[in-house]
Amino acid sequence: MEKAIPEVTLNDGTKLPVTGLGTYGLWGNAGANAVSSGINAGYRLIDTAYNYENEGAVGEGIKRSGVSREDLWITSKLPGRYHTYDKAMVAIQESLYRSKLDYFDLYLIHWPMPNQDVYVEAWQALIDAKKWGLIRSIGVSNFLPEHLERIIQETGVTPSLNQVELHPFFNQEEQRSVHKNLNIQTESWSPIAKAADIMSNETISKIAGVHHKTIAQVVLRWQYQIGSVSIPRSISPQRQRENLAIFDFALSDAEMTAIAELSRPDGRLFDMDPATHEEF
Ligand SMILES: NC(=O)c1ccc[n+]([C@@H]2O[C@H](COP(=O)([O-])OP(=O)(O)OC[C@H]3O[C@@H](n4cnc5c(N)ncnc54)[C@H](OP(=O)(O)O)[C@@H]3O)[C@@H](O)[C@H]2O)c1
Repeated sequence: MEKAIPEVTLNDGTKLPVTGLGTYGLWGNAGANAVSSGINAGYRLIDTAYNYENEGAVGEGIKRSGVSREDLWITSKLPGRYHTYDKAMVAIQESLYRSKLDYFDLYLIHWPMPNQDVYVEAWQALIDAKKWGLIRSIGVSNFLPEHLERIIQETGVTPSLNQVELHPFFNQEEQRSVHKNLNIQTESWSPIAKAADIMSNETISKIAGVHHKTIAQVVLRWQYQIGSVSIPRSISPQRQRENLAIFDFALSDAEMTAIAELSRPDGRLFDMDPATHEEF
């Protein structure tokens, strides 16, 4: 196993590894093998969602890995069609059933879908599911500052974490400062921007050359240094190990600034603005 991964402490006292394995598109037998190889490479945090239709493959991968359940942090997410309180409760239990787990370490509301306006009810369900022991920590995903403020105001409970699109082309500086003020941990989805255009970025390529690291490693190190938990997805055992080998070098202030300057207001990968984007 690779060297242990550093951890952050959430506002409920729970500790979480600073990087985990994304699983979007990891399905069936190949998906289970990828989860198992990721855990054996050293990943302890695994990110899935009801809507990825792979909670079963994730559960099977956990079993195949041979690593104890209590040494892992498993995240899943509530789909938009189950935001009402009763439906959310059923969905959480179905998520557990599919993954063959007794509890999730982290469960998130996948998207706020403000036009439907039911996310406060969904948040109340997560609060109660935590009390009942189905979930250890509760959080949200793709919540804009106004959505965070509203659930906190209406329930008195602050999410532990907000998982948002975050990579060098869309670095979420303002959103991160809102999280810091509210004591909410930032987590980055598509942390290496899906390994597309970024793989030929000259600025990052130059920095990678200086450190004898790959572009993915520089971007994941940048994620660590800005204080965001990253969840890169890879089906390949070799790239999984590569993405974990980020704790033996450091980016300088000048390198961090050069990467920060790559961010653009229209830098989202697919224009998925949480104010309007809906996923049921
Ligand atoms: N909350 C949300 O709304 C939301 C939205 C999107 C994603 N997510 C979560 O975030 C996770 C990560 O995001 P993502 O999957 O969209 O994108 P990503 O992790 O930024 O990139 C994944 C892509 O990069 C490739 N890759 C991984 N490591 C590489 C390396 N070292 N060198 C070259 N290519 C590499 C992967 O291919 P291989 O697999 O072939 O290596 C895959 O095509 C998802 O899997 C999911 O768990 C959440």
